[in-house]
Order: sequence, then structure tokens, then C-alpha cells
Amino acid sequence: MRKITMQEVERHNTPDDCWVVINGKVYDLSVFQKGHPGGSPIITNNAGKDVSNLFNNVHPKDIPERLLSPEACVGVVNMDTVDPAKHVVASGKKAQPRGQQQPSAPAESGVPQNQQWEKPPIDTMLNTFDFESVASRTMTEEGWGYYSSGGDDEITLRENHTAFQRIWFKPRILVNVKNIDMTTSILGIKSPLPLYFTATALGKLADEYGELAISRAAANSDVIYMLPTLSSFSLDEMLNVRQPGQVQFGQLYVNAKRKLTEEYVRRLGDGGVKAIFVTVDAPQLGRREKDMRNKYTQSADVQKGDDVKRSEGVARAIGEFIDPSLCWDDITWLKGITALPIILKGVGCGLDTVMAYQMGCAGVVLSNHGGRQLDTARSAIEILPEAVAALDEHDSNWRSRFEVFVDGGIRRGSDIFKALALGATAVGIGRPVLYSLAAYGQAGVERMCSLFKDELTMVMRLMGTPTIADISKSHVLYSNLMTHVPAQARDHLQLDIYEPLRPAP
Ligand code: LAC
Repeated sequence: MRKITMQEVERHNTPDDCWVVINGKVYDLSVFQKGHPGGSPIITNNAGKDVSNLFNNVHPKDIPERLLSPEACVGVVNMDTVDPAKHVVASGKKAQPRGQQQPSAPAESGVPQNQQWEKPPIDTMLNTFDFESVASRTMTEEGWGYYSSGGDDEITLRENHTAFQRIWFKPRILVNVKNIDMTTSILGIKSPLPLYFTATALGKLADEYGELAISRAAANSDVIYMLPTLSSFSLDEMLNVRQPGQVQFGQLYVNAKRKLTEEYVRRLGDGGVKAIFVTVDAPQLGRREKDMRNKYTQSADVQKGDDVKRSEGVARAIGEFIDPSLCWDDITWLKGITALPIILKGVGCGLDTVMAYQMGCAGVVLSNHGGRQLDTARSAIEILPEAVAALDEHDSNWRSRFEVFVDGGIRRGSDIFKALALGATAVGIGRPVLYSLAAYGQAGVERMCSLFKDELTMVMRLMGTPTIADISKSHVLYSNLMTHVPAQARDHLQLDIYEPLRPAP
């Protein structure tokens, strides 16, 4: 590889001729910067510099190889030419946590705006909303905006949890519930809980150990973790923290450069993951306005109005990585490049569930991507009875080789119970993991998980269902689920933490 002097790198310092140094390698980002998901300015403002610190703060080390064409790497820096006294290393400015900014608290959070906020001890956390509330203070604007936002008016985002409240319980009494056993089987793998951590992008926005902390917490909690493609740590790093006996799944965004996907799928297989969950609901990223407005207010280039360009840049950049031409025929291709079970993640109706079954998939995740994609798409829990009925009609024996999962809005043990009662094998949780991580690191994730266990134990006891196999449709009333008639008491925990969308200032 060509050795390049630092002085030569420094001369390529304009947007159209933009070189940077990342971990000793020199990259020409003149083209890539235009579609960079984090916006062009972060790259062009640092053209001609060593951006390793900035880069390492948010990206996995192997992402240049995954996203850039090989020609983008023009060489390595000749370290003899680097003058330590003069060498400019663009720093990753540590952003302020929201709790230290003023005023930034959610209007209805109950914390007076002019009072310094103190993080409560972890043992005061009693439910997932507690963690979310703390995370809304400990996260940076950038992180909070990215994780908490949903598509458009965020109707689906809120509906995801609210929908569970349209299902009511029909408990059975005088069943011996001394011992509660939550053990189940997920894709043939024994799991002590019908719950897994689903894939969520950019874990470092929550905690410096990001996905590594999530994976460790998953191991300690005996929960399966689905490794994200768009991770902060590299795939190898995520695989390397796997504990003996721990099960990891792999989430997959199919890249327009299919060879890169083939390589990634091979690495997942070699790395020992047990199933591949292909995301099928994001050929383009949704418009998340909280996220977009945050970038606007934090930008150094506000006068150029680059927020709009940046929001367009996200979609364009995703076009770079995610193939919007992905279609049913490609499922055959995927099955041809791996022996691992393929599950479609992001299915939104009964017809597509049956299609997945017919294509030989091992299952589907009914999901609307945490309300981040198509707004007013139905919640997974609402789709569930339709999906199960469609499968029943197609093949009464479907359960012998196919499983249905749901994610989105699961915040209580009772939500898990309802999903199982309506036919799900297990549920995925995303934001509760990120928020508990952002609030208290790995220990937070472990406590959040133990709260889910406590809640589900209690619900199973009060419902008269000592084992997972005892839970059935006869335990729930769900006739109002599809009517969308909101006939329930106000959900203070959710609504008081929920930060309403705001018009432009
Ligand atoms: C998101 C993608 C990256 O929802 O999954 O932001």
C-alpha cells in the first residue's frame, strides 16, 4: 500500500478533494462525504486531518471496509512525516448529557427546569419507563434524538405500547402456581425467558461499551442477543465477547453490493450465530423529525441550512448500504448462501407471513421497526392474530417448522404474556435495552431484564398459568384490539415521559 506523507494528506482539504486519516490509513472521502449518514460537515470540516478519534467514538473499526469501495483507501500514512507537535487530530468533542444542559428536560418530566438533576440510584428503577426517564437525562441530544424518535407524527411509535392496553386478561383461579417456569424454546434453542434483545444500531450513543455491554448483559441474564449490522463495535468484537454457552443471532441489512452481504453472512455463520434476521421493512429510512431537528440545532453550519441536506443524506446514505431492490426472489439467494435459519424481520400482515412460510423461512418478526419507519403502520401485537389465522388457514401444521415473533412497545411482563397468548413464540425488546444501558451501563440492562422476569412471573401466577405451554388465547380478550377505540385509563408512565413533537422554533 502506498505510503503517503502527512503533508500530502493536509493538502487534500476541500469538500471536493477530501482526504482523511483513519487509524493510520488514508481515505479519499470526496464522494462518500456527500451521503454520509452523520452529515457532510463532520467530514468536510476535517478534510486533510487525522479523524481517528472522532471516528472511533461512534464507528466500528471495520466499517470503512464494509461501506467504502477499495479504491477509497489511497494508502497509509508515513508516520515519519507526522510532526507530533503540529499534528492535528480532530477530537471527538464530548457532547453534554441532556441532564446537564439547560433547559432541556421534557416539559412534563416533573423536574423543575432550573434545578440541577441528580441521577437516582439504580435500585430505585422499578420498570422500563424509569430507565427511559433517566436515559432522557443522561443521553446526549444526538443519542436521545436518534433512539427516541419515530417516523413522521410518531403515531405508530406510541400505538406500539398503547395497543397492548386494548387486550384484557381472563385469569383462571385455584391453579397451583407455586413454581413458575418461563422456560421456552426459540428456534429450537432453549431460553429461560420468552424474550430476546433485538438489534439496535449504534450502541455507543448509549454507552461507551455499546453492543459489548449489551452482549455481556444478555449473557448474564441468559437472554439471546441479536447483533446489529449497523453497530458501533465491529462484528468480530461483538462475537468475541460471547460467553461460553451464550446464543447470539445476527441481524442483516442487505447491501446493494451483494458480495459484501455474502461476506457478512459468511462471517456471521463462521462466528457461530444461530439464526439470521433479515430486516425487510427499511428499504429507505423513515423520517424521524426529532432526530433531524437535533442535527439542525447542533450543526456548525446552520446558516447553510445543511439540516435539510443532511436529512436527504440519511436516505441517500442508506441507499448506499441497504438495497431497496431486495425482493422475495432474494430470499432464495440468501438461503443459498447460508445454512442458518432465515427469519424475516419487519413483516406487517398475514399475507406476507404466509409468503415467508412458503419461501422456507424459519419465522417472521411482526414489527414496524419500533415505529421508526411507516407511520400509522399497525402494531405487531395487532397484526399477530391476523398472521396466526393466515398460517392456520394455509397449513394447520405450520408450528412444526415456523415461529412468529413480535417486537415494538413491549414495556411490561404483561405485554409479553399477551403476545404469547396470541401465538407469539417470544418477543424482542429494543429501546428498553438502550435506555437501561444509557442510564446505568451493563448493570442497568441486567436490572431491566430482571424486572421483566419479576413482572412476567407475577402475571403468570395471577393468570393461573405456571408454564409457558399453559398460556393460550383463552386467557385474553382482544376483540377491541383492531378497532383502535381507546377505552382505557390514562397511561401516566408512558405519556409523562413521552416527549411531544415540537414545531420548528
Ligand atoms: C434505524 C435503523 C438503522 O432504525 O435500524 O435507525
